[in-house]
Amino acid sequence: MGFIDYEVDGQVGIITINRPKALNALNSEVLKDLDATIDAVDLDAIRCLIITGAGEKSFVAGADIGEMSTLTKAEGEAFGKVGNDVFRKIETLPIPVIAAINGFALGGGCEISMSCDIRLCSENAVFGQPEVGLGITPGFGGTQRLARIVGPGKAKQLIYTARNIKAAEAYRIGLVNEVYPLEELMPQAKKMAKGIAKNAPIAVRACKKAINEGLEVGMDEAIVIEEKLFGSCFETEDQKYGMAFFLDKNKEKVKEP
Ligand code: HXC
Repeated sequence: MGFIDYEVDGQVGIITINRPKALNALNSEVLKDLDATIDAVDLDAIRCLIITGAGEKSFVAGADIGEMSTLTKAEGEAFGKVGNDVFRKIETLPIPVIAAINGFALGGGCEISMSCDIRLCSENAVFGQPEVGLGITPGFGGTQRLARIVGPGKAKQLIYTARNIKAAEAYRIGLVNEVYPLEELMPQAKKMAKGIAKNAPIAVRACKKAINEGLEVGMDEAIVIEEKLFGSCFETEDQKYGMAFFLDKNKEKVKEP
């Protein structure tokens, strides 16, 4: 669809942001296509999504600077909301989303990766929030998610200095989960996604919900969110099968759901 390629590999969906002329920078069209692609993901069939960028140089080099250059105050706010709505949709999708970061992840590129559950990157990846160098703030959730992922001190340092960091430093500060040679990035992302897809899908969704929703409230409330989701698993075939299989001495007898 337009600037977005979508491919299905078993129970894994792969979204590729494909605007190579601008290093996959996000303009309104790309955001619209991304939104429509996410809406079209068959959540009955897909258990894990991967988001990556086309080519070997850039994941997403940010929001489109040309498009932003002439915005008014109201238009700037509206542009921020378009991106925020899409990224929030990614963050709150019921299934896990892995960002496979294959190069530049700057500004909006770093921000989209942070709306994913897990970030894997290639050795050539570069992260940064260069916005203050352009006279703006991060606008697709960067001030909020970076602080939550790496802590406020590191987030403030990266955002105030507008300094780009390489994959190794992103790994050291906990911004990415794993770093791979470029040619191994997609195979490793698919391997992880397929591993997740093999696990009980309702339980995996419940874990995502528990972690995301729990982080937004105090611990007393958070632990109740977990209790409810934990309890709901006992109404699933996966729980009955999973535990019966473990306990049964003659594994063959237990019927898979
Ligand atoms: C528009 C972009 C772009 C961007 C790259 N391009 N990034 N166009 N918006 N964010 C275009 C270039 O203009 C150029 O087009 C082509 O992609 C190749 O880029 P080059 O600069 O020639 O490549 P290179 O020299 O390798 O440098 C790569 C780079 C650099 C370091 C990534 O392109 C760069 O600094 N880009 C901007 C990164 C950035 O500041 N991102 C944050 C944006 S603010 P032509 O036509 O000349 O070939 C942001 C805010 C989010 O994201 C919140 C909004 C609400």
